[in-house]
Amino acid sequence: MTQLPGLLDTEALRKDFPILDRVVHDGKKLVYLDNAATSQTPRQVLDVLSEYYEQHNANVHRGVHVLAEEATALYEGARDKVAEFINAPSRDEVIFTKNASESLNLVANMLGWADEPYRVDHETEIVITEMEHHSNIVPWQLLAQRTGAKLKWFGLTDDGRLDLSDIDEIITEKTKIVSFVLVSNILGTVNPVEAIVRRAQEVGALVCVDASQAAPHMPLDVQALQADFVAFTGHKMCGPTGIGVLWGRQELLEDLPPFLGGGEMIETVSMSSSTYAPAPHKFEAGTPPIAQAVGLGAAIDYLSAIGMDKILAHEHAITEYAVKRLLEVPDLRIIGPATAEERGAAISFTLGDIHPHDVGQVLDEQGIAVRVGHHCARPVCLRYGIPATTRASFYLYSTPADIDALVDGLEHVRNFFG
Ligand code: ALA
Repeated sequence: MTQLPGLLDTEALRKDFPILDRVVHDGKKLVYLDNAATSQTPRQVLDVLSEYYEQHNANVHRGVHVLAEEATALYEGARDKVAEFINAPSRDEVIFTKNASESLNLVANMLGWADEPYRVDHETEIVITEMEHHSNIVPWQLLAQRTGAKLKWFGLTDDGRLDLSDIDEIITEKTKIVSFVLVSNILGTVNPVEAIVRRAQEVGALVCVDASQAAPHMPLDVQALQADFVAFTGHKMCGPTGIGVLWGRQELLEDLPPFLGGGEMIETVSMSSSTYAPAPHKFEAGTPPIAQAVGLGAAIDYLSAIGMDKILAHEHAITEYAVKRLLEVPDLRIIGPATAEERGAAISFTLGDIHPHDVGQVLDEQGIAVRVGHHCARPVCLRYGIPATTRASFYLYSTPADIDALVDGLEHVRNFFG
């Protein structure tokens, strides 16, 4: 078996993930390489979820009975775990949402309803990049349409990185917010946060970072990022679906208006007006995703016990091996950086003129799960003149044998299509 420096003990660790023993299609063992879409869930998280429903299930912040108090303590305990995981200065800066899309929509809508100095209007500009997931494009398009603000973006270089050559013309005194992805879900690129934040701060613009493909894979320190908002989701980091996070700087959360109204987010309500609870509750209308937050807390415990530095080193070694092996496949073109440096653990590629959907289907018949399509980042496909890509994405339980299986599978695809 191929051994690489920096690998985790995957033999032991894979025992935590029952699904990785699945057999699919005529006795083929599952090779799961779709981690950028969703990660698998370890027993430790499944156990916490079962225990929550078996022992503690109740609504939060409302009841005086034992279960309500236990559920509230577990839910708020999960907030503490998230705050520590991302090095937030205060737990009150952690807002639970249902996913990263909702977190990003929340930022756009906070600004959409804000007064000066945050107000977005026809004299202001919003900056994104061409490599954003649709969840970090469409909310800003909606905001621009509604307010008349101008939407601008950084383009891409041929090797899949942000073209920052005209940063001073793109981020200007008119820019109100710069929102960009830390690690691209389609290209795998890790973006140079510092340069963008520096320029945004020069002109007094807010910075929002989509960390959906970063939080699961590397240490995330919101203070070091110097952003104003950071969004990510639970289901890509060993947690359940239905739970996302928006971290925001405290003074902004105090100043900015809520988006969704309802129970939980108020201080008082009369028939003519309402006052709001302090953040984070101001932004959490209705019954929140309680069990899901508790599950995310368990996922954070699981990842932290292994160590995010070690997970990063493991994935770097796997990605380096994958880039090398994939480049050996004839006619394979990596869309994005063709190196393991400054890139995350998702690799998109095309294979000659075989349509990615066909590639994905033949791989699936061999038990290999990848994602095909535009990966909710269609502008990237348009930029590189391709209809879609095949994407293999790795996680802490990925092994060199998974990569070998993928490369063998691609040989099979090539033979199949002649
Ligand atoms: N954002 C997820 C992906 O890239 C769904 O696959």
